[in-house]
Amino acid sequence: MMKPPLSSSKGLLFFYLVVLFSCSQSIDAQTNQTNATTDPSEVRALISIFQQWDLQAPDTWNISGEPCSGTALTTSFSEFEDPSNNPAIRCDCSFNASTVCHITSLRVFGLDKRGVIPDEILELPYLDFLKIDKNFFSGSLPAFIGNLSRLGLLSIAQNNFSGPIPKEIGNLKKLYLLSLGNNDLSGTLPPELGNLVELGELYINSCGLSAEIPSSFANLKEMRIVWASDNAFTGKIPDFVGNWTKLTQLRFEGNSFEGPIPSSFSNLTSLNSLRIGDIYNGSSSSLDFVRNLKNLTDLVLRNVLLTGNFPSYITELQSLQKLDLSFNNLTGQIPSTLFNMNSLIYLFLGNNSLSGSIPSQKSETLQTIDLSYNFLSGNLPSWVNSRLQLNFVANNFTLNSSNIRVLPGLECLQRSFPCFRNAPRYANFSLNCGGPAIIADGIQFEAENRTLGPAKFNVTSTQKWAVSNAGLFADRQNQQFVENNGGQVRSTNTPELYETSRISPGSLRYYGLGLENGPYTVRLFFAETGFPERTSGSWRSLARRVFDVYIQGARRLRDFDISKEAGGVQRAISRNFTTNVTANHLEIHLFWAGKGTSGTPEDGYYGPSISAISVVPNFIPTVSGIPPSNPKEKNHTALIAGVTVPVVALALILIFAIIYVKRKKEDDDEEVLLGISPRPNTFTYSELKAATEDFSPSNKLGEGGFGPVYKVNDVKHF
Ligand SMILES: *[C@@H]1O[C@H](CO)[C@@H](O)[C@H](O)[C@H]1NC(C)=O
Ligand SMILES: *[C@@H]1O[C@H](CO)[C@@H](O)[C@H](O)[C@H]1NC(C)=O
Ligand SMILES: *[C@@H]1O[C@H](CO)[C@@H](O)[C@H](O)[C@H]1NC(C)=O
Ligand SMILES: *[C@@H]1O[C@H](CO)[C@@H](O)[C@H](O)[C@H]1NC(C)=O
Ligand SMILES: *[C@@H]1O[C@H](CO)[C@@H](O)[C@H](O)[C@H]1NC(C)=O
Ligand SMILES: *[C@@H]1O[C@H](CO)[C@@H](O)[C@H](O)[C@H]1NC(C)=O
Ligand SMILES: *[C@@H]1O[C@H](CO)[C@@H](O)[C@H](O)[C@H]1NC(C)=O
Ligand SMILES: *[C@@H]1O[C@H](CO)[C@@H](O)[C@H](O)[C@H]1NC(C)=O
Ligand SMILES: *[C@@H]1O[C@H](CO)[C@@H](O)[C@H](O)[C@H]1NC(C)=O
Ligand SMILES: *[C@@H]1O[C@H](CO)[C@@H](O)[C@H](O)[C@H]1NC(C)=O
Ligand SMILES: *[C@@H]1O[C@H](CO)[C@@H](O)[C@H](O)[C@H]1NC(C)=O
Ligand SMILES: *[C@@H]1O[C@H](CO)[C@@H](O)[C@H](O)[C@H]1NC(C)=O
Repeated sequence: MMKPPLSSSKGLLFFYLVVLFSCSQSIDAQTNQTNATTDPSEVRALISIFQQWDLQAPDTWNISGEPCSGTALTTSFSEFEDPSNNPAIRCDCSFNASTVCHITSLRVFGLDKRGVIPDEILELPYLDFLKIDKNFFSGSLPAFIGNLSRLGLLSIAQNNFSGPIPKEIGNLKKLYLLSLGNNDLSGTLPPELGNLVELGELYINSCGLSAEIPSSFANLKEMRIVWASDNAFTGKIPDFVGNWTKLTQLRFEGNSFEGPIPSSFSNLTSLNSLRIGDIYNGSSSSLDFVRNLKNLTDLVLRNVLLTGNFPSYITELQSLQKLDLSFNNLTGQIPSTLFNMNSLIYLFLGNNSLSGSIPSQKSETLQTIDLSYNFLSGNLPSWVNSRLQLNFVANNFTLNSSNIRVLPGLECLQRSFPCFRNAPRYANFSLNCGGPAIIADGIQFEAENRTLGPAKFNVTSTQKWAVSNAGLFADRQNQQFVENNGGQVRSTNTPELYETSRISPGSLRYYGLGLENGPYTVRLFFAETGFPERTSGSWRSLARRVFDVYIQGARRLRDFDISKEAGGVQRAISRNFTTNVTANHLEIHLFWAGKGTSGTPEDGYYGPSISAISVVPNFIPTVSGIPPSNPKEKNHTALIAGVTVPVVALALILIFAIIYVKRKKEDDDEEVLLGISPRPNTFTYSELKAATEDFSPSNKLGEGGFGPVYKVNDVKHF
């Protein structure tokens, strides 16, 4: 590589440096320094790189004087990686009888710097460590990186690099860590990377790569950590991965792999964490290979075509803390020992074909249990209580009144969805996901703000709709299932609808219950509020959220990316679907299929998000829309006394009550009247109640079937 000629300003700087060098010699004593000085061409290159990347050295070493000074001479890794020492270099000053220093490490971490990888980096030929993650660097990965032959660590994750991986990286024979994750790369894995026989850690998650993993990768037997989720890798997961026997972590979620998972995986006995997900094609897999993987703490084999009986040997994995085998077709009974393991905390077995009853005993450690969408039956065990995270929806349990007290609504969320089955009451529902009741666009959106967790469901007291979640944010401290953005969303005249969203790391379902059969329009409202705009220039803006939406079991959106579809973040977008209700219930399912980034803007951030839902009939309903009477809810005075109702709100209730009574008198067929509007804006009594809870006197309330309804200050106007 040719060195580019120095520009005149660089030349001046260099001159300045040479002058400075003579000064720095005299202060050696202060600076933990030998007599050695940094190779001048490296100083020049470093200054040029820092200029191009708009970087300033911290006080602890000297860009303008002798770069190999202060913390640049440290031997302590923690001092080098200290957040206050950023950007950072390290030097080795043992050259030429300890008279010459060469720069061996360069770290520019999380500073949102822009620019490309400059060819001046070749003037740092002694680099063995290059870490520039979490910036906004762009351009392609230059082939000349392959000339930095001493590199052991090359980490450029969470940037905006594009283009293919240069095959020359395969020349870096000393690489022990290669991290390219979360970039906008394309193409395939170069077979030359199979030459990196010392490679122990490979991070190529969310890279935009495709095609098969090259067979040359069979050589990579030192591999300990491989993250390769969220690409479009195809073909079978190679058998030779089972030869990477030093693996402790393997992530293969959200690719296009075919089954089965190779049985050679049974040799991966060092694995602590194995996550494979989202295999749709090829043949089914057996779980047998996990039998010997005794060091597993985290086992996720989700949506990978597992079949066969649920094996009891899983319970021999005595370190297992999280087990997720959901979205497979495991059959047979749940072994009772599974619920009595010492270490198991989180268990996800939703969407299988398990039968029999739930084990009657449970260890104290097991706190989160998802058994939704199986064929379990019998009574619920006595350990069931409302403090646990339990999702048992869509099974076939025999419920008694004490079960129903602990898990209210479960009686509606059985396989057959029995509540109001063949006796529908409703013909619409609208929800403000994650937020309070609001009226937007003339539609009353009910509050959908109850606390959800990794295995939770909730059915409204009216039994009109329900919500269910299954999934734990992996690698995230703060498990949050709601996002609140403070109302910044643009390109909508109802920004309040997007103030909150429900988010889920797995499977989020909404149900309409007691719906009159017929065709409906389902409208889903989205806005990306989880990360900043691209124009912010932050690595955090390089997140991608990708998920699928199923309605009545049919996939209607695949790889849906809200900000891509909406043309940016904080922009509203909605999607309409027509669907048929044939058994008095509707299911809207938002599903994470392993795709999208998972470490941006923070670790463990991924999965579906939705702001609101509105479901309206495409026919004239014949149902009342009124919830069945409930003794508690009939106590109007208790309701009103329970809230400090402002005069305005009270007046509103009265007005509606008057209209309601008037209309009822006028029309013989009250059921037809209230159900007549195909739009969900005819308020039922319960909707009214909900509205007053969140009543804001400054709002126009929307349009009812009787014309516009505004707030009023004085009852006598009516
Ligand atoms: C050199 O600096 C390191 C820390 O930067 C310090 O621990 C060490 O004691 C210093 N050595 C000398 C000879 O001053
Ligand atoms: C630095 O150089 C001087 C003179 O050349 C020599 O006396 C001294 O020992 C050297 N110091 C180190 C730390 O090498
Ligand atoms: C950096 O260099 C300047 C001038 O050469 C000197 O005054 C200062 O002490 C040096 N700082 C460190 C941390 O070596
Ligand atoms: C695994 O390694 C063994 C021994 O090194 C070798 O014989 C075998 O062919 C390898 N298997 C695969 C699938 O590459
Ligand atoms: C596991 O490794 C051993 C030794 O390398 C090999 O003989 C065996 O075939 C491997 N098992 C599988 C299932 O690949
Ligand atoms: C399993 O973990 C233990 C404790 O961390 C370790 O000593 C052992 O070597 C591991 N086993 C394998 C096969 O890696
Ligand atoms: C699951 O497996 C059972 C038994 O092998 C089979 O009858 C059923 O069709 C399978 N279900 C699915 C969804 O593949
Ligand atoms: C639920 O169990 C009952 C018997 O307890 C059975 O008749 C019914 O078919 C089951 N329903 C489903 C959906 O499996
Ligand atoms: C649903 O939410 C309500 C109100 O927060 C709560 O009382 C009820 O127990 C919840 N139901 C379940 C099954 O958690
Ligand atoms: C849910 O929203 C209602 C208003 O619609 C509000 O009164 C209630 O406090 C909210 N609950 C939570 C948990 O935020
Ligand atoms: C969806 O339907 C609503 C109501 O009919 C309509 O206002 C809206 O424009 C439709 N949205 C899309 C994206 O088609
Ligand atoms: C709903 O039913 C109608 C009539 O049976 C059919 O034409 C239509 O394709 C169905 N729509 C969906 C989404 O299944």
